[in-house]
Amino acid sequence: MTTRILPVTEASLADAKQLIGAGEVVAFHTETVYGLGADAMNDEAVQKIFSLKGRPADNPLIAHVHKDYDITQLVSPPAWTKRLRDRFLPGPLTMVYPSKGRESKFVSSGLPTLSVRVPSSPAAQAFLRAVDRPIAAPSANRSKHVSPVTAQHVYDDFAGDIPLILDGGASAGGIESTVLDCTGDIPLILRAGLVTREMIAAEVGACENYVLKEGEKPKSPGMAYRHYAPRCKTAFFGEGDTDAALRLYREEARAGVPVILCDHAAAQTFAGCRVLDLGATPAEMASNLYAHLRTAEGCATLLIGILPHARGGVMDGVLNRMLRAFGQQ
Ligand code: TXA
Ligand code: MG
Repeated sequence: MTTRILPVTEASLADAKQLIGAGEVVAFHTETVYGLGADAMNDEAVQKIFSLKGRPADNPLIAHVHKDYDITQLVSPPAWTKRLRDRFLPGPLTMVYPSKGRESKFVSSGLPTLSVRVPSSPAAQAFLRAVDRPIAAPSANRSKHVSPVTAQHVYDDFAGDIPLILDGGASAGGIESTVLDCTGDIPLILRAGLVTREMIAAEVGACENYVLKEGEKPKSPGMAYRHYAPRCKTAFFGEGDTDAALRLYREEARAGVPVILCDHAAAQTFAGCRVLDLGATPAEMASNLYAHLRTAEGCATLLIGILPHARGGVMDGVLNRMLRAFGQQ
């Protein structure tokens, strides 16, 4: 099959609507990362997503809807969750609710819950409005690979396997949405992201990070899998280990192409080396992380990661992704 990359226009949206109606898979831009979407009500279409990605069947998908979609068609949101929707949606926050069971049973991998996301990117809104039905979508990367933040990244993973990529430009957020369990009395963060624990607690009084207890089944099965791995050798060093990192860099440089991935402050200490600078602020680091990991795997024989200095807020999400990409978590 030919994979077309098209800008979001009336014509491409009409194509997308036709393809989704026919049970096909369409990739689309969001403000976090690109998604690989299919009709959430269609069993076969949802199963196609799992087989295309090579995704374990027990890792549930997010249902994406446009901002005027009535989510009570799908889920039963507790009353306290309204404040969070009013404050943060549309935006990079995915909320997990008790499901009414109307979506394909494959979306939530048999769980009694459904995660719902209302992305803010105009391209995503235009797509979701055009199809006007819930779209089940994971990030549009092969399972375990780095998430895509451009249409080209999606193409690199799925060329020939999907009919259409709706190109909305680069995804500026850069890391996936915050996943928040909203099935109890207080919100629990299952995956950190750009809407932080601090921001949620400020709105509803409390918010906890979900911690998997030993021997317990994870609330969010995706947490159990290795993720975001670049396809090159990697090494990882703590903030204070720049001398050791430099030694490894020089050793690799004799026969290979080492590249260092670090924050802006650390980049200054690696003058003369090949460096991918994540940036100075947490938002910049989130925005650059996956793009840099994809760049690195295209040119490096060894990618050397250095733990960034900043902590808390958006860094919870950035550090979680970075540590997993380097096999540290
Ligand atoms: O920003 C994002 O969230 C992107 C864009 C495309 O919207 N999507 C995304 O989807 O990152 P995915 O499938 O790569 O990650 C979804 C995460 C997984 O860790 C999954 O286990 C968790 O959300 N999840 C989905 N539904 C869930 C549910 N019902 N209960 C608990 N966790 C759930
Ligand atoms: Mg993913």
